[in-house]
Amino acid sequence: MAEKVKYEFHRKLPYSYICKLFSLYKKLLESMAKKTIVITGGAGFIGSHVVRLFVNKYPDYTIVNLDALTYAGNLENLKDIEDQPNYIFEKANIVDAEAIKAVFQKHNPDGVIHLAAEAMWTGQ
Ligand SMILES: NC(=O)c1ccc[n+]([C@@H]2O[C@H](COP(=O)([O-])OP(=O)(O)OC[C@H]3O[C@@H](n4cnc5c(N)ncnc54)[C@H](O)[C@@H]3O)[C@@H](O)[C@H]2O)c1
Repeated sequence: MAEKVKYEFHRKLPYSYICKLFSLYKKLLESMAKKTIVITGGAGFIGSHVVRLFVNKYPDYTIVNLDALTYAGNLENLKDIEDQPNYIFEKANIVDAEAIKAVFQKHNPDGVIHLAAEAMWTGQ
């Protein structure tokens, strides 16, 4: 009887160990796949193309478009992807530290692509 218990204990140990390893591996894969990227100026000329590319190419990523919607920003540029589940728009100004802090705390991004700018050429 004592030998049987010992035998089962040894049989169970590797199985639970393998389960634990699988669970850690699964969590690692999930954390690698589900990234959150903030793209500033995503409603602008270049930004809207970058946002569209990321939203369509990386459906497992959450793409946060952070834009103040100045004269150059236009959400019409992104009509075709605005309902995608991995797309989020946040209206915020990059010089407003509190607003940016709040967006970063809310989404905890893994990376930022910074394209927000007053890029209009004035001809001067
Ligand atoms: N367009 C070009 O030919 C070109 C060439 C080389 C480099 N760039 C650079 O690429 C970047 C993007 O250029 P673009 O042509 O897409 O510009 P754009 O003017 O079309 O877009 C800029 C975006 O940034 C947003 N924005 C502006 N100020 C902001 C602020 N304070 N906070 C949050 N959002 C703000 C605007 O609302 C707009 O959506 C710029 O840094 C620009 O200098 C552009």
